[in-house]
Amino acid sequence: MIIAVDGPAASGKGTLARRLAQHFGLNHLDTGSLYRAVAFRALAAGADPADPDAAVAAARQIEPSDLADPRLRDDKVAQAASLVAAIPGVRTALLAFQRDFARRGPGAVLDGRDIGTVVCPDADAKIFLTATVEARALRRFKELQAAGGPAIYERVLQDMMLRDARDRERRTAPLQRASDAFELDTTALDADAAFAAALRYVGGLKPRR
Ligand code: CDP
Repeated sequence: MIIAVDGPAASGKGTLARRLAQHFGLNHLDTGSLYRAVAFRALAAGADPADPDAAVAAARQIEPSDLADPRLRDDKVAQAASLVAAIPGVRTALLAFQRDFARRGPGAVLDGRDIGTVVCPDADAKIFLTATVEARALRRFKELQAAGGPAIYERVLQDMMLRDARDRERRTAPLQRASDAFELDTTALDADAAFAAALRYVGGLKPRR
């Protein structure tokens, strides 16, 4: 079974995807970490993350062990990730890894921006999460505060709006709901309520194979 979970930053994709994977005994891949790892490699090499040659070279060097680096969660890396993610050659370089991951073993839950539209258009279940940008910025702000770092709500909100616009407006694999995805607005839902709603949807589907 393959479940696609897409949506903008801090819409609750990661938490929902992890819980669905655990519930159904599936593997889980946070595909954002791939773009973050590419950005991190480009930045570490002193390159401009918007430079296609440098970003594609970084994408070809990605190793699974890169994905666990806590430095990938940095906000600078997130911004750079949305720059490398707009480069078609980067997306192509990461596609086979994601599709192989999805097909391995019992299947997987993948979360990202283009899982239901590009990476796994035949997924058994597709969930598209939304939430107002203010609610999402508040979640990210609280995460940053809990991690003990400096955080300014207005700054987090601005960064998120910039990244949302870049992700929605890029020409290759933009953030977009697949026509057959179940849309779930998590603005007023906590993690438990979002999980319950997603389970009702997935549980009501007929298996494809
Ligand atoms: O955790 P958060 O939702 O803030 O971001 P993320 O999922 O780690 O993704 C970081 C960036 O990678 C996004 O802003 C997108 O530009 C890009 N991305 C993408 O283009 N396609 C994906 N499937 C996943 C992430």
